[in-house]
Amino acid sequence: MSFDHGNGKPERPRLIVGVTGASGAQLAIHLLTALRESRTVETHLVISKAAHRTLELETGLHSADLTALADVHHQRGDIAANIASGSYLTLGMVVVPCSMKTLAGIAHGYSDDLLTRAADVCLKERRRLVLVPRETPLSLVHLRNLTAVAEAGAVVLPPVPAFYQRPRSIDDLLAHWSGKILDQFGIQHRLFPRWTGPDPAHSFAEGSVR
Ligand SMILES: Cc1cc2nc3c(=O)[nH]c(=O)nc-3n(C[C@H](O)[C@H](O)[C@H](O)COP(=O)(O)O)c2cc1C
Repeated sequence: MSFDHGNGKPERPRLIVGVTGASGAQLAIHLLTALRESRTVETHLVISKAAHRTLELETGLHSADLTALADVHHQRGDIAANIASGSYLTLGMVVVPCSMKTLAGIAHGYSDDLLTRAADVCLKERRRLVLVPRETPLSLVHLRNLTAVAEAGAVVLPPVPAFYQRPRSIDDLLAHWSGKILDQFGIQHRLFPRWTGPDPAHSFAEGSVR
C-alpha cells in the first residue's frame, strides 16, 4: 500500500489510533503490534489521560510501552497537531477501546482534546472512523450516542467474540478483533481464518437437534 500525500512521494497511508480509558487496553496493544509488524500504514497514536491508568491497571504496562509500538505519538493536548486538520490526509481513525465518555464527545462534536478532534475531522471529511466501544450493560444514553455516531458515518465495531471461530484463548479473540478493524480500512492481514462455510465433518442432518 502506498499513497501520495500531496508531496509527490509515495508513502505509507496514515492511520490514526485513539486509545481511551475503557477496559480493553490489550485491544490497542494487539492492533498496534499487528500494524507494526505489517508496516502497511504509518500509525499516529493519541492516548487519553484515563487510558494511561487503565493500561497500567489491566496490563502492568506503561504508556511508553504503547507509544513504542506507534510510528508517531501525539500528545492529547496538542490540538495543533497535524491530525487535527482535515488537510492532513489519513485513511481515517480507529478508537480502540472507546469509552462511553469519548463516545459521547464524538457523538456530540465536543472536541476538547486531540483524540476527539481527530475523530471529528474524520467525520467531517467523510473518512473512515471506527469505534470499538466497551461497556456492558449499555444505558439508553450509550445506545443513543452509538446511534448518533453511526448516523454520522462512523462504524461501530464492538469487541464481540465470534464463537463460530471456536476461539481457545484471549489471543484468538484479540486477533479476531484486530482483523475486523483492519478489514474496515482495507488493510490485508492473516490474523484469523476466514469463514468459508461449515466444515462437513461437523455438520449434522436436518432435524437432528432436539
Ligand atoms: C479499570 C477501569 C476500567 C474501565 N472500564 C470502562 C469501560 O469499559 N467503559 C467505559 O466507558 N469506561 C470505563 N472506565 C471509565 C473511564 O476510564 C472513564 O469514564 C474516563 O473518564 C474515560 O475517559 P476517556 O474517554 O477520556 O479515556 C474504566 C475505568 C477504569 C479505571
